[in-house]
Amino acid sequence: MNVALTYNVKPEEESSIGILSSSQHVSTDSDLSISTATYNDIYAEWDSSETIEAVRNALALYHNVTLVEANETAFEKLKALRPDIVFNIAEGLNGLSREAQIPAMLDMLNIPYTGSDPLTLATCLDKSRTKEILSYYKINTARFITASNLDDLNGFNLSFPVIIKPIGEGSSKGIFDSSFIENEDELKKRVVFNYNSYGQPSLIEEFLPGREFTVAIIGNGNDTTVLPIVEINFNQLPETMAPIYSYEAKWIVDRRENPLEIFTCPAKLDEKLEKKIRSIALRTYHILRCKDWSRIDIRLDAHGEPNIIEVNPLPGILPDPKDNSCFPKAARAYGFDYNQMLNKVLYVSAKRHKLI
Ligand SMILES: Nc1ncnc2c1ncn2[C@@H]1O[C@H](COP(=O)(O)OP(=O)(O)OP(=O)(O)O)[C@@H](O)[C@H]1O
Ligand SMILES: [Mg+2]
Repeated sequence: MNVALTYNVKPEEESSIGILSSSQHVSTDSDLSISTATYNDIYAEWDSSETIEAVRNALALYHNVTLVEANETAFEKLKALRPDIVFNIAEGLNGLSREAQIPAMLDMLNIPYTGSDPLTLATCLDKSRTKEILSYYKINTARFITASNLDDLNGFNLSFPVIIKPIGEGSSKGIFDSSFIENEDELKKRVVFNYNSYGQPSLIEEFLPGREFTVAIIGNGNDTTVLPIVEINFNQLPETMAPIYSYEAKWIVDRRENPLEIFTCPAKLDEKLEKKIRSIALRTYHILRCKDWSRIDIRLDAHGEPNIIEVNPLPGILPDPKDNSCFPKAARAYGFDYNQMLNKVLYVSAKRHKLI
């Protein structure tokens, strides 16, 4: 097939990994004395050229592949190119629906693509909207509110500790160690900080204290495969850090030069719990109408019941096994190497679009 690969690449000179002076990207309000170190997390969601190359090479084993950067010229390029299918890993450019941009263009052009449609991508990028939908379907998810300003905290009745995050970011953007909040004063500061820094409301949710898992899924309808479950081991983090998979944990403490044994895959689970986790992940995948692939983050509550944290219909896929990346890790445990994993996603998508 003629396959176009749509992507957004991290600017090389602005590696998103590392500590920057605060004023450059994330504004702090010194009057509120936020003690948070601020990191250059602006491009955290975008892919490195290494990842894009690796995806291209995987698909090129069997297909003709053309790269199309997901920028303002993408529509005209895709229109002229008319590939048989697009392999979409683009995070998009601006706004809370940015992941929906390329799929929306492709729907307009009537070109098939891998992954979920604009509605699902935009919904899942908004973590509070996702939780509202899951609540309707009685899927366990931590109690929550959304807040843009201090007035929105009137009548606040969640139990501390809580986690506070911008409603629409991924790759732990805006989720720092200091997003684990134990009292109302800290919470107020953080609501203002998040709004000033990310220009969007915060999702505030009760902290789920149990084990954390992430579940990679490939397929559609009755032909959907749950890959081996990954567990996140918080005991690998320094004791001074909150037990969350924060920006610091993901990008600063766990480095290629000094990798943490942060994942166990397959997770060690008794049969009953494993069944519950697989079942809530699959139900969530179908309720949100995920297509072809997704990764679903889950954590146990105080009663040991699995709760959905969030859904990633464009999962991270770092190619080097030394980099901790959950989807490729789960695929390897299933028996797929990186190339097989990506070609499987393309295959299930092509099948869904009746191209094969
Ligand atoms: N309600 C919660 N209770 C306990 N821990 C939580 C909760 N919400 C988030 N966390 C912790 O914070 C981490 C990051 O949260 P979340 O998955 O929402 O962020 P993300 O940036 O979208 O992640 P990803 O990199 O998977 O896109 C989780 O992996 C988990 O460790
Ligand atoms: Mg997550």
